[in-house]
Amino acid sequence: MAAGAADNLNKTPEHVAIIMDGNGRWAKARGLSRLEGHKQGVTSVLKTIEAAAAKGVKFLTLYTFSTENWNRPQEEVDGLMRLFISAISIYTSQMMEKGVRLKFVGDRQELPDDVIQSMSQIESKTEKNTTITVMPAINYGGRQEILTAVRTISEKVKNDQLSIDDISIDLFSNHLYTAQVPDPELLIRTSGEFRLSNFLLWQLSYAEFHIVDKFWPEFGAEDFDLAIEDYMNRGRRFGGVQNVKV
Ligand code: IPE
Ligand code: IPE
Ligand code: MG
Repeated sequence: MAAGAADNLNKTPEHVAIIMDGNGRWAKARGLSRLEGHKQGVTSVLKTIEAAAAKGVKFLTLYTFSTENWNRPQEEVDGLMRLFISAISIYTSQMMEKGVRLKFVGDRQELPDDVIQSMSQIESKTEKNTTITVMPAINYGGRQEILTAVRTISEKVKNDQLSIDDISIDLFSNHLYTAQVPDPELLIRTSGEFRLSNFLLWQLSYAEFHIVDKFWPEFGAEDFDLAIEDYMNRGRRFGGVQNVKV
């Protein structure tokens, strides 16, 4: 599209992506275990989902466990897996009340069976909810996602289901976990770090970045609202020159 720059002005983003970072440092600063930090992080997730729904955001992608996070100590990885299961079971009814649909992204095959089961259960239970779709990225890696799409598309070309000329940006996007979901207009990262850490490499091509100097367990509705406000004041150009905000 001949993207009219600044056409986001005063427009709420449809899709917000968040790198929820800093649980470990939050805990360390308080003499707590890293796992206590992750537990506290769950409360920020709840507050953020509510804030996003209140703003009319339709998709919220939350970086929850990366393909590189398997490199952490076994105790932390196991604790995180248990936390996913307990958070899902504790908050399912709240998600139903608030009309939240859950849809996980990432390669779930490598996850423990009981985690996969909890994920599938809440996905089917919340399938018809329409207020907001929350997409926790678990065992997610942007490079792995792109490679998986390349493999699937190559297979289709090999089997004559597709021709090379059919491979377009839209077709490629529809082979990612986020198929049919608009690209995030806004990326938030907490804990003051300025990097993507293998998150949504394709989908964030033109996202606006908002970095928050707080650890994830300290993040709440006011911080989310500030991020939205910041986004709404950005002049987006998409490579063009029109309507540049001055
Ligand atoms: C983010 O917090 C949560 C996960 C990656 C699971 P961290 O655990 O990365 O916290 P820091 O960055 O070590 O403080
Ligand atoms: C990114 O945070 C992954 C998640 C938030 C789930 P990390 O803490 O793993 O990223 P790095 O190691 O600081 O790049
Ligand atoms: Mg971190």
